[in-house]
Amino acid sequence: MKSWIRWAILHGVPSIYLGRRARRGEPLSEILTNSHAGQNPYQFGDRIRAQGRLVRTPVTWVTADYEVCRTILRDKNFGTTPPDALNLPRPILRLLRATDLKLANPVEPPSMLMVDPPEHTRYRKLVAQEFTPRAVGRLHDRIVEVTDELLAGLAARPQADLITDFARLLPVAIICEILGVPRQDQDYMLELGHAGAPLLDVGISWRTFRTAIAALRASEEFVAGHIARLRADPGDNILSELAVSGSLTMPELKAIATLVAGAGFETTVNLLGNGMMALHDHPDQLDLLRAEPDRWPAAIEEILRFDSPVQLTSRTALSDTEIAGQPIGGGESVALLLGSANRDPAVFADPGAFDVTRVNAREHLSFSSGVHACLGASLARMEGAVALSALYERFPELRLAGTAERRGLVNLRGYQRIPAVLGLPAASRTA
Ligand code: HEM
Repeated sequence: MKSWIRWAILHGVPSIYLGRRARRGEPLSEILTNSHAGQNPYQFGDRIRAQGRLVRTPVTWVTADYEVCRTILRDKNFGTTPPDALNLPRPILRLLRATDLKLANPVEPPSMLMVDPPEHTRYRKLVAQEFTPRAVGRLHDRIVEVTDELLAGLAARPQADLITDFARLLPVAIICEILGVPRQDQDYMLELGHAGAPLLDVGISWRTFRTAIAALRASEEFVAGHIARLRADPGDNILSELAVSGSLTMPELKAIATLVAGAGFETTVNLLGNGMMALHDHPDQLDLLRAEPDRWPAAIEEILRFDSPVQLTSRTALSDTEIAGQPIGGGESVALLLGSANRDPAVFADPGAFDVTRVNAREHLSFSSGVHACLGASLARMEGAVALSALYERFPELRLAGTAERRGLVNLRGYQRIPAVLGLPAASRTA
């Protein structure tokens, strides 16, 4: 009953309301209800930008303006938007608090993603050193090794699904190694992450919510067991260090482990899939990369800009303020359309063009900005460059075989299936 009430407040009622507004052509509701069936959310961002830099809707402000997004993300006067900070009537908020499921949920406190400084600063400091560019640099050879193993597995088959058989497997293998999770548990982690991912959307069905909550419960149990094992027999990994240091309470530790694990693979898979499809649709760009492979890191930035794996986030004003000439009251929230901000023509010339030589692609907001800027950005960049460059180098004849299918999610934008014929691997062609 508790979870049903929570679902009704956070998803059931919003889905009816947003559905109505979407049918009337209100662009934010069209995005949130996935009216475009995953095809082109950027057309709605363009419409919002045409309405103004910061647009008021009955439930939230919204912006697709690059500078406004970046300013708000970096503004100390804006905090996160956990569910109980939503601008809802008091009795509903009380009901939300009373139905807290007390699960380690990446989109609820004490998840680092959903708390403000000073708590946020404390959590972030504890894990940040593990994800600096230098620390991630040490993982390079291992990422190459795992990529090679996966591609060797593909070489044995004439056809493959590039998501299930490749893109999904690399990020989970690497984040599990970072967190000391045994290899045999990776499939289970993938299953739980996949079921939990819709919680980043608004207005999901009761069935999807129930499955996601069951996955969170299972994941919490799994993480608790894993932490207990590390306490008894610590390894050389960040979670072991945190588990024995006593610097975090058990709920805090579980929240960090769950967030880092989930964020570590549910996003990067979309970078890889979105990249494969962008390159498929723009073969001239792939030819350029094949001729000049040093361009791969820059191409990863353009892939991130062109089709952001994370489409939006939200911030709430901590006190009355003014942004882009609009007064925002304390407690009011702003939906920040990161993917659409990356298509703002004021910053990116001809933003709908996919151009791996674009000089300012790296200025994209796909990793957010400010204190919550993605902790795993260096890792994701490296996995992206290693995985995609190796895939196209190894399979020069690779081509799609059938229709690629988008995942039906709004915020985590990616593919669930990219069927492909691999052709002969490069080594056997030259042999
Ligand atoms: C292409 C892949 C990725 C994308 C597009 C991405 C995107 C993002 C975004 C947009 C945020 C901030 C959301 C906000 O401001 O509200 C974020 C935060 C975060 N990401 Fe990533 N991410 C990716 C990969 C990773 C990886 C590989 C990890 C693994 C360590 C990771 C861990 C995190 C964590 C822990 C946070 C919370 C940071 C904080 O609140 O201080 N991400 N990510």
